Amino acid sequence: MAEEFDLVVIGGGPGGYAAALYGAAAGMSVAVVEKEKVGGTCLHRGCIPAKHYLETASVFRTVAGAKEFGVNADQPQLDLGVSRARKQKVVDQLWKGLQGLMRKRKITTYAGTGSLGAGHLVTVDDAAGTVLHGTHVVLATGSVPRTIPGFEPDGTTILTSDHVLELDVLPASAAVIGGGAIGCEFASMLSDLGCAVTLLEALPKLLPGCDADVVDVVVKSFTRRGMTVRTGVTVEGHERSNGQIAVRLGDGSTVTVDTVVVSVGRRPLTDGLGLEGTAVEVDSRGFISVDNRQRTAEPGVYAVGDVVPTPQLAHVGFAEAIVAVRDMLGEDLEPVDYGKVPWCIYCHPEVAFAGLTEQAARDAGHEVVVSKHSFNANSRAMIIGEAEGLVKVIAERRPDGTAGPILGVHMVGPWVTEQLGEGWLSVNWEATPADMGQLIHPHPTLSETFGETVLSLTGRGLHG
Ligand code: NAI
Repeated sequence: MAEEFDLVVIGGGPGGYAAALYGAAAGMSVAVVEKEKVGGTCLHRGCIPAKHYLETASVFRTVAGAKEFGVNADQPQLDLGVSRARKQKVVDQLWKGLQGLMRKRKITTYAGTGSLGAGHLVTVDDAAGTVLHGTHVVLATGSVPRTIPGFEPDGTTILTSDHVLELDVLPASAAVIGGGAIGCEFASMLSDLGCAVTLLEALPKLLPGCDADVVDVVVKSFTRRGMTVRTGVTVEGHERSNGQIAVRLGDGSTVTVDTVVVSVGRRPLTDGLGLEGTAVEVDSRGFISVDNRQRTAEPGVYAVGDVVPTPQLAHVGFAEAIVAVRDMLGEDLEPVDYGKVPWCIYCHPEVAFAGLTEQAARDAGHEVVVSKHSFNANSRAMIIGEAEGLVKVIAERRPDGTAGPILGVHMVGPWVTEQLGEGWLSVNWEATPADMGQLIHPHPTLSETFGETVLSLTGRGLHG
């Protein structure tokens, strides 16, 4: 006999646990099937541990630069094992908190791989052979790192992001293949901690999808800090000798390093998910197909998070989970507007944006007005010694030449991941620079650079 629930969720990462928590908050009886630990990639092998190590890099930089402030300290030395232990403490505390929250909402968790068959039946591969029936089912099985032929990860010399997060010793040198969000975060962290990094990206620019002015700041900073950045290069293969790896590039050159980090994207994970006897469709790249209410082709079965072909961001998983549960409840809802979701990349300098890049806005046929302001004119940025970066705002150009709704906000520089709030708010609210320019920004703060940028788009700036 199957155990009955209003909602059965397969996968306990951000997409799955958000569906479970939101469903339970709405009074549903909920079960979650998870093969490892609730919290998923984000908590155990992704966002949280990666940001922890980037913070370690930030502390290292701060101590190394302390003299400039008249604070004389010994030059920093890294003990990566201690940092790793701290990472685990943070992760475990968050994991405990999440389990507690799920218990409090009376969510039942089953350990094992769940597979979906006909009639909303979910079989768990546990010793008891548990079978669950959900009035509704959410598929939230996430993603795993993509690999490239010839660079099969071995966990010691060829690493994926999963392996980097468990290092005890910093490699002396590394080639990071792929200059997307993960590649840039890891390259930045490894380089700041003293590893000689070569970042290899196949496309002409790092961070595809980011505004070109922002990417230029990142590349300049990476290069100034000693990293080698090579774009427009293909990776052909590698040879090993004397414990090192020579990575062969398409132009005939080689890069010889101790370690290779492969960060060329993540693929959806549907292994073991079954789906026989259901109408759920999987596309040619392995993603589960859904409509804008997260519904698969099988009535009552939804999919959210990295397993659907939308931005692979934890907060997008949260948003999709809420949409799915509200649809189950028959409530009015706004589908996720993927063009307006916030993006935050935590390399140094940080990158944060929402909405269209200048190029994408022009390509989409918008007449635009654009303003950029640099953090090097911001007093707080100078005080903290991080004046590298800028804020760029793109607004629709009205026929009379004035600035209409804000189409995109792009930031690079100190703590911009924490400053993007009014950026994504203005993009989603379709506010104009005049609307945003009325708001008072406290002085001295980093947020004044956004204030100056929108004010200047009204035709009358203060300082810029
Ligand atoms: P990605 O798709 O963002 O970037 C992969 C990069 O690798 C691309 O720039 C691509 O052109 C390049 N590439 C692919 N094959 C290559 C090859 N053979 N040689 C050289 N370059 C090659 O994937 P990434 O960075 O692995 O991240 C995976 C997912 O996780 C993304 O969707 C990303 O947005 C998300 N993520 C987001 C974070 C954030 O927002 N802070 C942090 C980490 C991940």
